[in-house]
Amino acid sequence: MKSIQQLVEPDRVHRTAYTDQTLFDREISEIFERIWVYCGHESQVPNTGDYHTLQIGRQPMVMVRGADRQVRVLYNRCPHRGVQLCGALKGNAGNSLVCSYHAWSFHLDGSLKSMPLPAGYEGTRLNRDNPDCHMKAAARVDSYRGFVFASLAAEGPTLLEFLGEARIAFDDMCDRSPEGEVEVVPYCHRVMQHSNWKFFMENQLDALHPSVTHQSTGIAAGRVEKRLTQEGQTPPLYYHYLSTFASPFEKWDSVQTVNFPRGHGILKGYMGLRPQDPDTKAYEALMYKAYGPEQAEVYLNRSIHHVLVYPYLSVQSPLQQLRCLRPIAPNKTLSEIWHFRLKGVPPAIYRRSLWYFNLVNSPATMINADDLENWSKGQWGLESRGGDWVSFHRNHGGDTEEDGVTYSNKGTSEAVMRNQFKAWVEYLSQEGS
Ligand code: FES
Ligand SMILES: [Fe+2]
Repeated sequence: MKSIQQLVEPDRVHRTAYTDQTLFDREISEIFERIWVYCGHESQVPNTGDYHTLQIGRQPMVMVRGADRQVRVLYNRCPHRGVQLCGALKGNAGNSLVCSYHAWSFHLDGSLKSMPLPAGYEGTRLNRDNPDCHMKAAARVDSYRGFVFASLAAEGPTLLEFLGEARIAFDDMCDRSPEGEVEVVPYCHRVMQHSNWKFFMENQLDALHPSVTHQSTGIAAGRVEKRLTQEGQTPPLYYHYLSTFASPFEKWDSVQTVNFPRGHGILKGYMGLRPQDPDTKAYEALMYKAYGPEQAEVYLNRSIHHVLVYPYLSVQSPLQQLRCLRPIAPNKTLSEIWHFRLKGVPPAIYRRSLWYFNLVNSPATMINADDLENWSKGQWGLESRGGDWVSFHRNHGGDTEEDGVTYSNKGTSEAVMRNQFKAWVEYLSQEGS
């Protein structure tokens, strides 16, 4: 077995980084179960007793709103014999979490409330002073602009340090609301990808693939757009969402990626979401009123297409979309696809985000389906003996580095992947490799 350093060369990566079970186990314990992992949005648990269950690495967790209004993230495990306390994806537990096996119950902060026939424990080691009596909490919980994260490691960077420059994802999302806040649309699509999680993360800022992978969809949408224009109509924005995928290579190459420490990154590119229809004008007027014209223009004109929070989040902040990965196995990754509603805006603006959700990110669209197919086929190829290395040579040596940030001077540079693997090596080298 090669060492971590031997697997990752400056311009290529050994295929086992995508296929090996031992490496995957290390990724779970040394990366996902240590870093700050996205749990959900505060608006997913608005009322006391509301809960939402999730996995951090391989740990079953529950995010729950307490009677004191605080949002906590607890291990979803009964201290008695380990039974999962919240069996549903989400719900309301009332004023306590009650185990379905022997009815131990817990306050919403995880502390033991009661158990049947407590006298049975008198004289034993199990009493309320014993922490084993209570539900265990994530070592650290924090939130940024309403987005809740937890880390299972007591030590490590703060949430803000972890997010670094990638926190613009949440600023950009919220700043587009005149109230500075978003609320979750409380249903997400869940897609099981039959490929390693890295395929997804690399693909998000891979500007070379859209005009190939999504050509058929992009061209079809472009034809309709053209016909409507010829007929004197204004094509709805959602045709543009799709036709833009078929832009020529040169256009994609002219965008820029900015690659931050810890593997995070931004695909720049102004998304042009400002058609001059009455709804957009009404929305812009609300933004002007809330922030003043100058600041409102800064918020409305940000050049952001995607922001990646490595190794598991892809945020398309101009359209309030967020995709979160939960790796299951070397060749199996669960993705959750969420979207958000800007507070204080007309419903038409929300519908634009919903169109994007359904047309581009949902499992029902050709865009997502074509990506998924590539990643599955990529996984099969890397599991084969047809070659040992994955190539990240594109524009290697042609990027600019400044204070640990790599600027790709070409949008299609594979600087994105090289930067992600740099972080991967750093994470897996922390505990000796
Ligand atoms: S396992 Fe939960 S009360 Fe027994
Ligand atoms: Fe794609």
